Parts: sequence; structure tokens; C-alpha cells
Amino acid sequence: MKPATLSEAEMDAISDWSESSQQLVRELLGKYPDKRSAVMPLLYVSMIENGYVTAEGMKSVAVLTGLTGAQVQSVASFYSMYKREELGKYLVSVCTSISCFLLGADDVLAAIEDETGVPDGETGHDGTFTVEHVECNGACGGAPVVLVNYEMVEGVTAEKARELVKWLRDGGPDVVGTEEMQQLFGGAKSFDWAVREPEGAVLPVPAFAPYGSARGVK
Ligand code: FES
Repeated sequence: MKPATLSEAEMDAISDWSESSQQLVRELLGKYPDKRSAVMPLLYVSMIENGYVTAEGMKSVAVLTGLTGAQVQSVASFYSMYKREELGKYLVSVCTSISCFLLGADDVLAAIEDETGVPDGETGHDGTFTVEHVECNGACGGAPVVLVNYEMVEGVTAEKARELVKWLRDGGPDVVGTEEMQQLFGGAKSFDWAVREPEGAVLPVPAFAPYGSARGVK
């Protein structure tokens, strides 16, 4: 898709955004026949620019999409992953939905709150951690699940959660990665538990019939 050409008003609305964000805006708008359809990815670009969704950011997205400010705000306030306050360096999200709850998510959350000194739903004064509980992340087979800046760690115990917090606090990386955290602090992962087809799967997905298997795919 060709990047969109922005009007003067649209350029004005994002004149203080970085060149890379402006380019991202052109690319995103070029992907949709109707500009309003780009509201969700554009809100993420505004988060990249400002760290969270600000009133100014929502105004810019309204200009870019042709939506009203109220419409943009309704989208931003409906979805919990659009953050409307400044976050800590590490956003630590603990899934407390049913599978994770049954396997000790409340203890994991309590350990993280205690070790960070940050209650659920808040950001610590030094700006290192934001702690929140979240709904199911679709990795129920690897419960309890913790995410750091949306990078997932599965099979976390309360004890491992404390170690994870200490690791992040005492010189944790700027860019966190699932693999490293899973290795250091994780336990059982979702798809290690998946039922395996005796013939083996032929697609890089769990070997359940709906997704295809040696038996189901010719
Ligand atoms: S219940 Fe926690 S990932 Fe589904």
C-alpha cells in the first residue's frame, strides 16, 4: 500500500511528532480506504510519541481520522491497553482470570505488589514499575501468566515473581524479551502441554485438528 499524503491540517496536527512517527502515520493511513479505520493503530502511535494517550494526542488522532474528539476518546477509554497516565519503565501485568487464578495468580500479584512496593493499578514514585492485574491473555495452559511491557512469562510462581522484580529493579534491560524472562523466571509454557498428534504436526501451530495436523492437511 502507498503511504498517504497528508493535508496541511493533518501535518499541523502532528507537526511536533518525530519524523519516524509521522512516516508511520502516512503508512497506516495508506492501508485503510476509510481513515477512521486507522483510529486504533494511530492511538498507539500517539502513545509512542507521548508515553501515554494524552488529550493532545487524541486531538491529533481526531484530525487524522476525521472523527470527533469524543469518538476518539471513547475508543481510547474502552480498551485497557491504551494507557491514559504516565507509566513506569516496566509495566508488570498479572493475569488474574480463571486459569491463572486457580493456579495462584493472586499470590503472584501479591508478591509483585510487595516486592515493588506498588499496589495494583498504580505506578511507583521512582517511575520504575507500574503494576496491574489484567484479564485472560490467551495462554491459560501456561498459567499463571505475567507480562512485562507485554512480553509474556508463563508458569510464574510467587517466588519467581519476586526474583523477576529484583532482576528488573537491579539493572534490568531496557528492552525485555520473552525468551530470556521465560528461561530465568518461567515454568511450564502453554503449548508444551498441547496434545500431540501421533503423526506429528505439519504446521508451526499446536497439533489440534482445527489448526491442521499430519492427518488433517494433505
Ligand atoms: S486465564 Fe490467565 S492466560 Fe488465560
